[in-house]
Amino acid sequence: MVLEVRDLHAGYGRMAVVVGVSLTVCAREMVGLIGRNGAGKTTTVRAIAGLRDGVFSGIVEVNGVPVQRLGSAKVVGCGLVLVPEGRRIFSSMTVSENLRLGSFSRRRQPARERERNLERVMALFPGLAPFLETRAGQLSGGQQQMVAVGRGLMAGPKVLILDEPTAGLAPNLSAELYRVMRQLADSGVGVLVVEQSIKLALQHCDRAYVMDRGQIVRAGGVQELSKEHVTEAIMGRAASGGGAPEAPAPS
Ligand SMILES: Nc1ncnc2c1ncn2[C@@H]1O[C@H](COP(=O)(O)OP(=O)(O)OP(=O)(O)O)[C@@H](O)[C@H]1O
Ligand SMILES: [Mg+2]
Repeated sequence: MVLEVRDLHAGYGRMAVVVGVSLTVCAREMVGLIGRNGAGKTTTVRAIAGLRDGVFSGIVEVNGVPVQRLGSAKVVGCGLVLVPEGRRIFSSMTVSENLRLGSFSRRRQPARERERNLERVMALFPGLAPFLETRAGQLSGGQQQMVAVGRGLMAGPKVLILDEPTAGLAPNLSAELYRVMRQLADSGVGVLVVEQSIKLALQHCDRAYVMDRGQIVRAGGVQELSKEHVTEAIMGRAASGGGAPEAPAPS
């Protein structure tokens, strides 16, 4: 297991948002985290990544090493990288500069390893090669997302968490991104992907967790989940526009 989360509680101020989340990701596995808007997915992955604005309690282990008391920079050093929601790249910097920034989050990374990671990122995203010296702000949305993912990969993670990487992307670009994620998983990385589209998650992941109101309400292999109407019941409200937060819990 490259990632194990046990009984994670997190929130904002006194408000609990994530209530006892446990999940695992193995090497070579692509795991989805799905759930309607406001379910607590982003809060969960930010807490896992050590962005401790509101972590109350819980255990997070990367390759068996507890990281829950480390700050986000040290968590990266332990091999866990989060590609956050939105395309947080530096638009006035070049693609190449953006990518190199990713490796600086692991200061002790030897130059040789850094070059190897850059080669690996370029092999995964050959479409970026002509744009290495282009300012990132001039790229298309899909290309910017590739840069954001590529930057995360420059740290050479064992666990890669992506928060809605396909949001706003055309279907062919979403498929391309999932191909890259699968390649990464095949190379030994554990991938956890927050996905708004249940269809994409069930199509591409090995397993998935369904989150609702801060809790994991369903988990299993995607084939199993595809057959379960309960997933439809939970996600149906997301599909029909999110639903009010005070809507009654499914029973
Ligand atoms: N910075 C914040 N301060 C206070 N409350 C917040 C903050 N960020 C999120 N929340 C609240 O926490 C709850 C969960 O939000 P979160 O962003 O984790 O959901 P999500 O599942 O990622 O949703 P989405 O699919 O829309 O990205 C929501 O009720 C939201 O209003
Ligand atoms: Mg979110």
